[in-house]
Amino acid sequence: MKKTLLTGIQPSGNPHIGNYFGMMKQVVDMQDEYTTLPFIANLHSLNTIQNAEEMKKNITNVVIDYLAIGLDPKKVTLFKQSDVPQTTELCWIFNTIVTMPYLMRAHAFKDAEAKNKEISVGTFDYPILMAADILIQDTDVVPVGKDQQQHVEMARDIAEKFNRIYGETFKLPEAIIKKEVAVVQGTDGQKMSKSYGNTIPLFTSEEETEKIVMTIAMDSKGIEEKKNPDDYNLYKIAKLFVNKEQDTEIRAMFENGGVGYAEIKKYTAKIINDYLRPMREKRKELEKNPERVLEILEKGGKIANERAEKKMMNVRKKCGLR
Ligand code: AMP
Ligand code: TRP
Repeated sequence: MKKTLLTGIQPSGNPHIGNYFGMMKQVVDMQDEYTTLPFIANLHSLNTIQNAEEMKKNITNVVIDYLAIGLDPKKVTLFKQSDVPQTTELCWIFNTIVTMPYLMRAHAFKDAEAKNKEISVGTFDYPILMAADILIQDTDVVPVGKDQQQHVEMARDIAEKFNRIYGETFKLPEAIIKKEVAVVQGTDGQKMSKSYGNTIPLFTSEEETEKIVMTIAMDSKGIEEKKNPDDYNLYKIAKLFVNKEQDTEIRAMFENGGVGYAEIKKYTAKIINDYLRPMREKRKELEKNPERVLEILEKGGKIANERAEKKMMNVRKKCGLR
């Protein structure tokens, strides 16, 4: 029997190469080995997107993104979180066994609080809904970027607590975090994130990609100086995309000296564009047929819903609700 892999992505607009290497690519790479359940976390997104048209458009877009990077809808169950409303029922049950001080330790909550934002109850409860997403599908592994590690650990804690109170019910999930891409850096050297405005979008024009690469922060060393490529953010980004020969070439540009930063950046942009071109072309094709997206989601939604309902029958029984 194959193990189960599940991961969610919020429909928050154009994904960047941090999302791609940190999480999306892992799902594509593992789709043969696992029973794979990627889903669109639209209920989580209600905390930030409160406009029906924008929500619908973003959902279609994420599905097209996933198909363009190579997710095969014949192999995986791709679904919308809102097609599994049992998740919110389970979230409520978890709400009754998790304490406020425990949830207050979540990084996402602490960050929001530090920024003095008016935090919605939905934002506070975010990790519990995420735990319900994971546990309701008997998930074994959850591929995510480093920033989601704590949330997966919380899901484990919640599973353990439920099992302690009501008897063995939930599997303990494990996060899969690839070390080299746990945190992909942005053009300014901070973690790549939409909120920092330092992203390289996965799906944009080649010209735009080059323009963004040209803005990557460097230092003031002279052209002739020999440099260690590993000290540079530009190289760390390039490294995600290079093959062996390209790696040798770009390292030499730094190590031998004599090549200006503009030239190294142009070469990096070319490497990135060459790598992404097939996905970008495929995306353009897929865009022409949005009805297909709806069919895929409908089919995936049914399967995910059936799995969740089966699990919930047992949970309701354990809690004396049924
Ligand atoms: P988000 O768009 O922040 O909801 O992230 C979607 C997924 O991409 C999550 O699994 C994140 O951990 C991952 N991710 C986001 N930004 C980065 C980054 N800069 N490096 C690696 N992974 C990332
Ligand atoms: N919190 C995740 C993010 O922002 C999205 C998400 C929701 C998720 N539910 C999940 C990821 C369950 C993995 C498993 O990236």
